[in-house]
Amino acid sequence: MKAVILLVLLSLVSAASASNRQPGLRDAAEKRGLLIGGALRLYASTLSDPLYLETFAHEFNLVVPEHVMKFENTQPEPNRYDFQGGDFVVQFAHDHEMKVRAHTLTWHDANPKWVTEGQFTPGQLAGILHDHIATVAGHFRGKVISWDVVNEAFDENGNIQREGPWPAIDQGAGRNLGHGDYIRDAFKWTREADPDALLFYNDYGAEAINPKSDAIYRFVMQARLDGVPIQGIGFQMHVDINSAPDEASLRANFKRFSDLGLVIHVTEMDVGIPGGRGDDPDALQAQADVYVMVMRACLDTPTCQAFLTWGLTDKYTWLNSRDESAPLLLDVDYQLKPAYFAIEELLDGSKRHR
Ligand code: XIL
Repeated sequence: MKAVILLVLLSLVSAASASNRQPGLRDAAEKRGLLIGGALRLYASTLSDPLYLETFAHEFNLVVPEHVMKFENTQPEPNRYDFQGGDFVVQFAHDHEMKVRAHTLTWHDANPKWVTEGQFTPGQLAGILHDHIATVAGHFRGKVISWDVVNEAFDENGNIQREGPWPAIDQGAGRNLGHGDYIRDAFKWTREADPDALLFYNDYGAEAINPKSDAIYRFVMQARLDGVPIQGIGFQMHVDINSAPDEASLRANFKRFSDLGLVIHVTEMDVGIPGGRGDDPDALQAQADVYVMVMRACLDTPTCQAFLTWGLTDKYTWLNSRDESAPLLLDVDYQLKPAYFAIEELLDGSKRHR
């Protein structure tokens, strides 16, 4: 009986706190028909932090898993698949009326040793990737809105990267290393496994017009002419306050991909503050300006449908181990930063929080 009373009290308390709350970013984004999201980290530290999942669901209507859908997590041993983490993300999204952006099937990083050290022939590697995509994309079929089918396949000069296990597939008979046929195959295999998800090519450093984005543009245009099912481009947008892309170039780049009919997602934005200046008001304002510049470009691009940050709070970010800090919209104490207010104001047209 006591337990029942406690439960009733607890639910009243949480209902009260929920209704007293300020709206989250998702409320402002929904008015614009925009998906707004972040990368969800499922570590012991985040799962034992009572604010983490709750705040995540309050702010975002879209979730991308930071790790659990990567190859080393979904197929840690040959033919042993593990969907626990991914299924958790799907359930979490379902419980909070959020969508899932799935990441990623084909990448040079986060592959298990059995793949990278397996000394496989090109034909065997193609078989491994095909099975992986069929099984993983098949498992999440109907549960995710999109897949990053291929992640980071081009280098900064616009050549196909040679890093990681998968480019070697194109050393097989009738193939040319460097032509990227394995990329085309990955998209076809994903489409066979999941007929409805939007299929994305995702990369960093291709936000503005430069040799890398030129090469991706040409590759995707030709692939689409050849019937390869590529429907979206993800611009990761890992930048810092001193290295933001040029605004005019960014907008022109978004426009040319949009004009091809491609859906655009800003997939992993963070704006690092170098030199430990994460509390400096000028640095925080500069950070807000970069976020606003990119969000405005997205809002002004007809096919830009989603905007995601690579995390939620500065408490948990992959950049804390680098010489960049405080890159996200909420600080280490979950307080809303100038960049948060600036994004909210842009989406919503009001200054409610100030
Ligand atoms: C990162 C994770 O955030 C790190 O925790 C991990 O150690 C390495 O991968 N581009 C991507 C993401 O597409 O998957 C990367 O995520 C960050 C860069």
